[in-house]
Amino acid sequence: MPSEIAIGIHDLSIASTQYMLTHATLAAQNGANLGKYERGIGQRSMSMPALDEDIVTMAAAAAAPILQRHSADRIRTVVFATESAVDQAKAAGIHVHSLLGLPSATRVVELKQACYGGTAGLQFAVSLVHRDPAEQVLVIASDLSKYDLGSPGEATQGAAAVAMLVSAAPALVRVDEPSGLFTADVMDFWRPNYRTTALVDGRESISAYLQAVEGTWKDYTERGGRSLGEFSAFCYHQPFTKMAHKAHVHLLNYCGREVDTGAVDRAVGPTTAYNAVIGNSYTASMYLGLAALLDNADDLSNRTIGFLSYGSGAVAEFFAGTVTPGYRAHLRSAAHRAVISRRQEIDYARYRAIHEHAFPVDGGNYPVPRETTGPFRLAGLSGHKRIYELTSNPHLEA
Ligand code: HMG
Repeated sequence: MPSEIAIGIHDLSIASTQYMLTHATLAAQNGANLGKYERGIGQRSMSMPALDEDIVTMAAAAAAPILQRHSADRIRTVVFATESAVDQAKAAGIHVHSLLGLPSATRVVELKQACYGGTAGLQFAVSLVHRDPAEQVLVIASDLSKYDLGSPGEATQGAAAVAMLVSAAPALVRVDEPSGLFTADVMDFWRPNYRTTALVDGRESISAYLQAVEGTWKDYTERGGRSLGEFSAFCYHQPFTKMAHKAHVHLLNYCGREVDTGAVDRAVGPTTAYNAVIGNSYTASMYLGLAALLDNADDLSNRTIGFLSYGSGAVAEFFAGTVTPGYRAHLRSAAHRAVISRRQEIDYARYRAIHEHAFPVDGGNYPVPRETTGPFRLAGLSGHKRIYELTSNPHLEA
């Protein structure tokens, strides 16, 4: 039965890393044609973490401005979605809970299903708020994507976090019912516990994603979802931004619609601005697409947005969101643009050193030199524990 209460995204804030590598630098190093990167896959640069940055520091940096604006009084749950976890047992969200000084009367949990985890978190949050509309849930999606040097996936690396406050009477986007769901057991992309880089069958992963577009749309329409013409824009998971275009063309073909390239660009183009320069941020990617759309598109009040969340392995979900009138007063567009512009460009040698860096695993005392100018940092490792700290220059913006 559809919910009578409007529940959805009340606030949204993004964070990324200290550094970025341009695809021009990568192409100059590996001899690839830059056109393949910039037009073929639609990527211009990728975010790279400083040695004292990880999913926890990005997540805390994304969430801190939300807590400054709203306080933590109504937050009783923190859901942290990631596939680049820092521990096999402890939820990364507990470090964030501690860095942000959240109350002890909070449940904190980590969710994993490749890039789909953020959407699982959002839907679980909607259900919790439905049970008690006085409560709010902090949903954080934070990931670093890393592939082997010289592999086809290398050009699709990236890093970012998105924090969302899920609430009744949301100021930004209401999450609508129904959802179209799809699961299939495919080995298109995976990362065994003993590896720091993902394994992927690139072509298989693209076709698995497109199968999931069909599967979710079929289930969505069978459950009484909206028709294609009712949507003003589509936010797709973006492992690389060209994938959003491919997915939308596939959906139009599946629905027997004529494919007009201009219309496809209008439907997905505004969602790609941040992902094109940040790269694949896995769980956060689709919500970076939403941030870019809300920050840069003309007024979308009362318009419907389609969301297609895909996580390799594979699980996918299609759902609609309706934009709240007056949402523009609650956006963080300037701060989001600053997240991108504050990154320092690095050369190939520095990128390679970051890529190849690994902390010792002997449980010794290893302070990490300060590199990030962000609000939180990994201060070191000691006794197999990660130690985080607030920096002296927190740059926190409400
Ligand atoms: P590749 O072999 O390096 O590239 O792999 P390619 O040869 O297929 O070329 C890419 C595109 O550039 C092609 O266009 C070329 O024609 C074009 P397409 O045929 O696809 O439309 N091209 C050019 N265009 C303009 N000027 C030129 C030029 N040269 C070539 N000069 C691949 C590309 C995406 C496979 C690779 O980067 C990869 O393996 N990436 C990682 C896997 C991936 O991103 N998969 C996407 C779907 S799975 C997913 O989204 C889930 C994921 O996020 C993980 C999760 O869920 O956790 C990955």
